[in-house]
This record gives sequence, C-alpha cells and structure tokens, in this order.
Amino acid sequence: MIDPHSFREFEHSGWQGIPQQYHQAFGELTTQSIEPLLDAAGVKAGTKVIDIASGPGYVAAAAARRGATVIGVDFSVAMVAEARGRNPEIEFREGDAEQLPLGDDLFDAAVMNFGILHLARPDQALAEACRVLHPGGRFGFTVWAKPEEAIGFGIVLRSIAAHGDSNVPLPEGPPFFRFSEPDECVRSLLAAGFESPKVVKVPQTWRLRALDSLFEFMRDSTVRTAGLLQAQKPDALEKIRAAMREELKNYQTGSAIELPMPAILASGMKP
Ligand SMILES: C[S@@+](CC[C@H](N)C(=O)[O-])C[C@H]1O[C@@H](n2cnc3c(N)ncnc32)[C@H](O)[C@@H]1O
Repeated sequence: MIDPHSFREFEHSGWQGIPQQYHQAFGELTTQSIEPLLDAAGVKAGTKVIDIASGPGYVAAAAARRGATVIGVDFSVAMVAEARGRNPEIEFREGDAEQLPLGDDLFDAAVMNFGILHLARPDQALAEACRVLHPGGRFGFTVWAKPEEAIGFGIVLRSIAAHGDSNVPLPEGPPFFRFSEPDECVRSLLAAGFESPKVVKVPQTWRLRALDSLFEFMRDSTVRTAGLLQAQKPDALEKIRAAMREELKNYQTGSAIELPMPAILASGMKP
C-alpha cells in the first residue's frame, strides 16, 4: 500500500542530493519537450505562467524567453537554488505541487515537465494546478512514454528483471508509467476539473557518449530508478551494467549513442 508521506520523503531526499547530476544527465533531454509543452499551455508574451516541479528551471527560462511572466515552484530547496543560480532574473519558490503556496485563479498557464510521475498524490497536484489557473487558463504536463518506447527505461528495467531483483523494498509510489497511457491522462485531467483534454507524443532523443552512460545516469541522476539500482547486490549490479552496455550497442551511431525517449504531453483547459 502507498504511504504518501514515506514516498514523498524518499523523493524529496533523492532530489535534494542531485540537482547538478540531474542537469548533466537529463538537461539535454527533458528540454526537448519544452516548446510543445509551452505551446499546449498557450504561453506567449505577457502570459502569467507557473512552472510546477521546476527543477533547474528549464521551462521557466523558456517561458521567460517568450516574454511570459513566470514563477517556478519546486519542493527541493537544492533544486530551487540550482534554478535561481541558472536564472537569476526569474522567481523560484520552494513549494509542494500537491499544495501550491499560491492563491486561486492567478495564472493563465501552468506547466509541469516530467514532474507528475514523482508525486505521491498526482491527482491532488492536478487539482492544485486547476485551482491556481483562472477560468480559460491552460495546463500541460509531460511524462515518459512507456518503456517499450522510452528505450532508456526499457533497457534498465529489462536488465534489472533479467539479472537482479525488480521487487527490492523501496517506499511504494504510484505507478511510474501511469500517465504514459493517453486514456489515463484524459480521465485524470477531466476528474481534476479540466476540459478539452488533449494528448500527443513528442519525439525526443537521448544522445549518450559512452556505453556506461545510461547505467551511470540512471544510478546517479534519478530517484526511483536509482533506488532500484542501488538496492541490488553488487554481483547483480555488475551483470545489470553489462547487460545495459550490450543493449546500448544496438543504438550506436558512429561515436554517439542515440536513444529514442519520447514524451507524452497532456493538456487541458480550466472551464
Ligand atoms: C524530473 S525533475 C523535472 C525537472 C524539470 N521540470 C525539467 O523539465 O527537467 C522532477 C522535479 O520535480 C520535483 N518534485 C518532485 N516532487 C515534487 C513535489 N511534490 N512538489 C514539487 N516539486 C517536486 C523535484 O524536486 C525535481 O526538481
């Protein structure tokens, strides 16, 4: 059974330790969905935007480049510091997506790039995004596509299943790929009070330099997948690393490795 408090603490302590590692591993990848995400949320010059689970502030920065007025919110003070360091002209606040530290009906647009899959109570966060928008405001969020398509996750999860233990005890959270299902996005957006939900797939490519990069990024720059890897026995971990190297060879193109890592982008409007 999911204990939201334990799962939140697990995620929070994970993110507190990895702002720079996250940037190095995922900075070139999660930024690939930003322009479609901002389009889906209707962000343009003059739009008032909230970037929820803002991490290093990539989406907030892109919204500001469009001329929007933006505030970023993240529950990790270390991530907030990272975002402020990268974007001193933008306001970032410490705050929980499930209980935003902001009043009702304030924003024209709300966005959450790869945040919702880290939440203990994602439906609560959808309701919060709706609350802070004014009527007619738009909300968009992204998640990874299923592991069959987001190949990096497919490789790591398959390697753990083959050579390690996929059921090591970790604080249980909501299914990681829940929102990879378009129907589930639509159902959840409607349940949170949004209308006209839309779901599209955004192609993304993870360009890795070395065959060990995927293992190292998953071990050092994520939270749930890192927890799964770190809990493996040392000999199993070496087999997992070797299996991941082997699978990555299928994606070598010259000196680089190019992994398809599409995103699912869901959006809706507050009536
Ligand atoms: C995968 S990162 C995404 C960062 C960024 N949005 C991007 O585009 O790369 C997830 C972020 O969600 C934040 N986060 C996780 N749970 C949260 C919560 N309950 N409330 C606010 N932020 C949260 C983490 O601190 C982390 O910065």
